[in-house]
Amino acid sequence: MRIGVPKEIKQAEQRVGMTPGSVREAVAHGHHVVVETTAGAGIGADDAAYAAAGATIAPDAATVFEQADLIVKVKEPQTGERAMLRAGQTLFTYLHLAPDPEQAADLIRSGAVCIAYETVTDAQGALPLLAPMSKVAGRMAVQAAAHSLEAPQGGSGLLIGGVPGVEPAKVVVIGGGVVGVNATEIAVGMGADVVVLDRSLPVLDALQARFGPAITTVYSTSAALEDHVLSADVVIGAVLVKGARAPKLVTAAMVTQMAHGSVLVDVAIDQGGCFETSRATTHAQPTYVVDGVVHYAVANMPGAVPRTSTYALNNATLPFVLALADKGVKQALADDPHLLNGLNVSRGAVTEQAVADALGLDYVHPEAALGAI
Ligand SMILES: NC(=O)c1ccc[n+]([C@@H]2O[C@H](COP(=O)([O-])OP(=O)(O)OC[C@H]3O[C@@H](n4cnc5c(N)ncnc54)[C@H](O)[C@@H]3O)[C@@H](O)[C@H]2O)c1
Repeated sequence: MRIGVPKEIKQAEQRVGMTPGSVREAVAHGHHVVVETTAGAGIGADDAAYAAAGATIAPDAATVFEQADLIVKVKEPQTGERAMLRAGQTLFTYLHLAPDPEQAADLIRSGAVCIAYETVTDAQGALPLLAPMSKVAGRMAVQAAAHSLEAPQGGSGLLIGGVPGVEPAKVVVIGGGVVGVNATEIAVGMGADVVVLDRSLPVLDALQARFGPAITTVYSTSAALEDHVLSADVVIGAVLVKGARAPKLVTAAMVTQMAHGSVLVDVAIDQGGCFETSRATTHAQPTYVVDGVVHYAVANMPGAVPRTSTYALNNATLPFVLALADKGVKQALADDPHLLNGLNVSRGAVTEQAVADALGLDYVHPEAALGAI
């Protein structure tokens, strides 16, 4: 199969759909990979690295879209990219179509087969192509918090792990899922005093089994939340209620009672945020202060570490890319119900229920749509 990797053009996006290592795997499987020139600049992979992996370097995106049967990207296609998609082509990338009617209309019109990373599932019912970015964000959350605690950043002037003879900071993690467990790992590693709250007993059991006495696990009631948030130096918001906006677990009134210079990191900001005082920020200006409390609420945290994020994403996407290329798109989708769950738009039909519902479009069951591929 001919696989195409265009350079990402969404503002500030530096990740890339395939690393040179992934390209080499695809080439070893007998596929032809065409990569747009400088596509890997943001991850430190130049054209020579891709050529050494066996790719052909294309001078522009138009050439990539013209030549490829399967386009592998990171972000949803932008308007100009959508115009280059065509029937018979397959797109494999993050799409996030539910809030994006214009993109949905263009993908429907294109006649292409569009598989979204974010709805591919695994045997546990989790979302394996979203998890790598949650891992990155969870780990970054503690890094961001440690920096924000520094006095020149408006923080209380605490070193997160303390030093021998001086207490560490108290880090409260709300939500012990993928973000929470990764934040906990780094906070424990830095020597913080870590408390994790969750509403799921299996999640609390798993955390305690993994970290032992290095952390305190707490069942998340509003009383427990208030108690721990008010005495925290850092609060990391990492909750997710599937399909819903994040619940506002830390109220504005609670924020007024927190110590000056304490830090709130709202990782759940991409779902509306779980602190009442949160508003989305960018990497250019990641923090702001409310009632003396530093808020960090960057909606695309992994974007700041495109190298790590790209490699983490490729580790999860590569098996699917190879399956699509080796078996052909139709057979790969027919063989794997989890990959089939990723099918959002196929030959003009919307095949993801949540997208159809959100946009008021007709829904076609993905299995029914397979026949037309
Ligand atoms: N800002 C970013 O760049 C970025 C990057 C990746 C993920 N995220 C977001 O981070 C959030 C967490 O993602 P995840 O992958 O860890 O989700 P997850 O489903 O793995 O974990 C969420 C956890 O929240 C817990 N929870 C739900 N309600 C709770 C409550 N009231 N109190 C305590 N715990 C509660 C759940 O039991 C679950 O364990 C999501 O909103 C996700 O979109 C943001």
